[in-house]
Amino acid sequence: MAEWQLLNDPAAIAAMACERIGRMARRAIAARGVFSLVLAGGSTPVLTYRQLAGSDQDWPAWRLFYGDERCLPREHPERNSRMVEATGLAGRAGEHHPIPAELGAEAAADAYTATIRDQRPFDMVLLGVGEDGHTASLFPGREYAPGLVLAVHDAPKPPPERVSLAPPALRACREMLVLVSGASKRDTVQAWRAGGSLPVAEVADLPQATILAERSLVEVAG
Ligand code: 6PG
Repeated sequence: MAEWQLLNDPAAIAAMACERIGRMARRAIAARGVFSLVLAGGSTPVLTYRQLAGSDQDWPAWRLFYGDERCLPREHPERNSRMVEATGLAGRAGEHHPIPAELGAEAAADAYTATIRDQRPFDMVLLGVGEDGHTASLFPGREYAPGLVLAVHDAPKPPPERVSLAPPALRACREMLVLVSGASKRDTVQAWRAGGSLPVAEVADLPQATILAERSLVEVAG
C-alpha cells in the first residue's frame, strides 16, 4: 500500500522529490555503482528536474530512462525528452535513454524493450497522474498487451500515438514517487483515495511507493 505525503505547494513537492531522489541515488551508487531513474513526463516534474539539474550529484553514475513518450519528432517541444533536456537534467546524467518514439509506437516499443529489459529493477520510478487517473501513457479502460513496453494508440491525451512502460515494468523498482499537483487533479485524487480503480492506483499500489500530493487536493472542502 503506497504512502501519502501531503505538502503545501508544488515547490514543496519538488523539494521533497529532490531530497528523496538524491538519497536513493547515493544509496544505489554506494551499493551498485549506478543509479537508474525512470522519469515522468508532463509538466508537474519540471520543477523537480530543474532543481535536480542544479544539484551536486555523482552524475556519471546516473542512468535516465522514461516511463512514456509521445510519438512526435525528436526535437518537438511537446516531447517528454525535450522537456527533460530543457531543464538541464539530461545533460548532467552519465547516460540518457530517450524512447525513440519518432520511429512510431510499435517500432519504438520494440526498441525500448531491449533498452530496459536488463535494467530492472530500476532504483527509482517517477510518475505523474492525469485528470482521468492515467499514469505514464496507461489510460483508463484499456487492455494492456503482454510485454514490458506498450505501443499506445488513440490516447485520449494528445498526441494519440504514444509509447509507455507497462505496469510490470513501472512496478519493477526499489522506490516509486508519484508527484501530484494542480487543482485539476482533485477529483482523481479523491477517487484514488476512495479506492477507485485507476491506472495510477494499480501501478502505485506498492509498499515502496510514496505519493507526494498537494495538501489542498486531499482536504475535503467545507
Ligand atoms: C505525458 C505524461 C503523463 C503525465 C500526466 C500528468 O506524457 O503526458 O507522461 O502521464 O504525467 O498526464 O501531466 P501533468 O503533469 O502535465 O499534469
